[in-house]
Amino acid sequence: MKSLLYISTARSILDLSQIEDLLCKSRAANAMVGLTGLLVVGGRRFLQVLEGPDEAVIETYERIRQDPRHFALVKLREKAVETREFGSWSMGFEQGGEAATSASLSDQVNAMASSITDPTLRAYFAGFAETHARKQLNERV
Ligand SMILES: Cc1cc2nc3c(=O)[nH]c(=O)nc-3n(C[C@H](O)[C@H](O)[C@H](O)COP(=O)(O)O)c2cc1C
Repeated sequence: MKSLLYISTARSILDLSQIEDLLCKSRAANAMVGLTGLLVVGGRRFLQVLEGPDEAVIETYERIRQDPRHFALVKLREKAVETREFGSWSMGFEQGGEAATSASLSDQVNAMASSITDPTLRAYFAGFAETHARKQLNERV
């Protein structure tokens, strides 16, 4: 089994219904090939981890890479894994920075990353959430 983490940039910010459509289709496709993972959106940035059978991860990433809704994909990590981090999510979703008004920055980061057991993966998601929460706070000033 493989785990692949990448970051990318949206061509234009997707609204909620566009994200819901993307998630709905992705979850159905992922379930068919045994993929699980997490997608986090922060402004125009996507951070996504795909995990599952090697072939499913490679094929899906190839398809995602060619999606015109985003560009400048950078693969941050590709690793053989024994167990899944997101076993119950055909594609979990978080909007980074979204809850900045109702929760403190650290609460938000902790909530997003605390369930991830792999320290490297946790650090990427925590860092991403912190960056985007901070950006949102700055934008409000
Ligand atoms: C940020 C982002 C994440 C995506 N995640 C997935 C995913 O987890 N699984 C998936 O099948 N498609 C995902 N997609 C959609 C694929 O890029 C593609 O549109 C979809 O698989 C349909 O491909 P097709 O039109 O070639 O059939 C994602 C797209 C974007 C922009």
